[in-house]
Amino acid sequence: MQEYIDKLRALKAEAAGSPKDVESQHKRGRLTAQERIDLLFDPGTFNQIDTLVTPRYESYMGGKSSRLGDGVITGFGMVQGRQVFAAAQDATVMGGSLGEMHANKIVKAMRMALSYGCPFVALNDSGGARIQEGVDSLGGYARIFDANCEASGVIPQLSVILGPCAGGAVYSPGLTDFIFMTENSYMFITGPEVVKSVMQENVSQEDLGGGRIHASESGVAHFLASDDRECLLKVRELLSYLPSNNLSDPPYIPPRDDPERRCPELEQIVPVDPHKPYDVRQVITSIVDDGRFFEIHELWAENMVVGFARLDGFVVGLVANQPMVLAGTIDIKASIKATHFIRICDAYHIPVITLQDVPGFLPGTSQEYGGIIRNGARLIYAYSEATVPKLMLILRKSYGGAYCVMSSKGLRGDLLYAWPNAELAVMGAAGAVNILFRNEVKTAPDPQARGAELVSEYQEKFNNPYVAAARGLIDDVIEPRDSRRVLIRALHVTLSKRDRHIPRKHGISPM
Ligand code: HXC
Repeated sequence: MQEYIDKLRALKAEAAGSPKDVESQHKRGRLTAQERIDLLFDPGTFNQIDTLVTPRYESYMGGKSSRLGDGVITGFGMVQGRQVFAAAQDATVMGGSLGEMHANKIVKAMRMALSYGCPFVALNDSGGARIQEGVDSLGGYARIFDANCEASGVIPQLSVILGPCAGGAVYSPGLTDFIFMTENSYMFITGPEVVKSVMQENVSQEDLGGGRIHASESGVAHFLASDDRECLLKVRELLSYLPSNNLSDPPYIPPRDDPERRCPELEQIVPVDPHKPYDVRQVITSIVDDGRFFEIHELWAENMVVGFARLDGFVVGLVANQPMVLAGTIDIKASIKATHFIRICDAYHIPVITLQDVPGFLPGTSQEYGGIIRNGARLIYAYSEATVPKLMLILRKSYGGAYCVMSSKGLRGDLLYAWPNAELAVMGAAGAVNILFRNEVKTAPDPQARGAELVSEYQEKFNNPYVAAARGLIDDVIEPRDSRRVLIRALHVTLSKRDRHIPRKHGISPM
């Protein structure tokens, strides 16, 4: 027996790589695939599978350069006590490039995760398609993409980019729910060399597709971390808000925070003057359990804030206008950001809580040319399609199309509230008077005084929450300090909500 055991140990040692491999990865300021797995999973719980998978070498040029396991660690283990599957590409094996068997291992682990209802985490560090394996490699990518699509909305899929991710390799992450990047990682369809030869444009790897660019410019990355360690801790934290699959509930944590706690500080955080900015994240942290808010897309489309938190122990998704950036208007990026987030919440039974303080959609040619119509429509579609509880609180302004779009009664919002200072109207008073009473103001003996009089009349009549309350378009007007307890009570009654769509193959979401 000992002989057999020794042989097995030798094979597994070969698959694990050498100290030289570890050193080469550390030199790049990155951890090895095994070290990443160790950080992601609860200590001692990871089980590797397909350790001994071997590539077909017969088509290789320049001899054999892969090794047992073919450059990717796959398997399952526990993250905060729940089963999770993962694949970690090993950049020390042919640059982490993806060949046929490498792809087979990833697809096998993904399909297991899908069958057993476990989240799947891909740790990417790869030079893309393995050039030596040609079409076998490309076919492997296609199978991964297909598995990504099939798993979409069934199990959480997270992509973590910890090194290069180039060419077609970017599309598996692009199909998953969340993308994490480090400052030391990059993603692009074509690298700087191709950009230079085709577009005559000089650009560095970092400026083309570095983690910071994707977190702040393209929005491709939902999270940016300074290094591998911080990144993997963030992955663990995100998983703590997600259910294992679409048939289970998100993890409930018995709360320490009093559900009846009043929040008098809200009266100071939000200025009554509708022109004064403030940070809506302070409103969120005042309301939610223990002030803990897990923000997503922190550096992109900052005029819309989205993220997870807990209310009385239950996971909720928050969507909030940010008056500090672009006055909280909704633009193309903000629409895309909120749409994606609402769809994630809906897929995973996470109630959506919308905090409104919005003067409207951002006007202008760049928005119209960029397609604000179809992107705003996507946001409407996402709110309408969502069957999870939809709660809403108007903190201050709620104007025009933005009122309709953001979780209104017409879009089957469940329980909707407003503070007494809220303003709900088609547009601001000055704009409205200018359109409705232009001639009257112009011909008045004192146009300025008449204009001011009409503005204040309009404000008195329309810029308040009571017209909406009188029509039942909001369910109550509440004092700011009661926001937490009111939302928690509303959450409790709506958690048992069952809403269905008319059966159809699928709707056609705007592009
Ligand atoms: C085979 C590869 C490889 C690849 C890297 N290697 N990429 N082997 N196929 N795609 C090997 C290198 O030959 C080298 O082997 C080792 O990995 C480490 O690579 P280095 O270049 O020394 O590392 P580094 O300087 O860190 O640069 C990393 C890199 C670079 C930026 C990723 O290797 C690179 O540009 N690779 C090619 C990227 C690429 O064009 N991929 C194809 C994309 S097209 P040795 O033996 O010397 O250690 C694509 C299409 C998919 O992916 C379409 C799907 C639909």
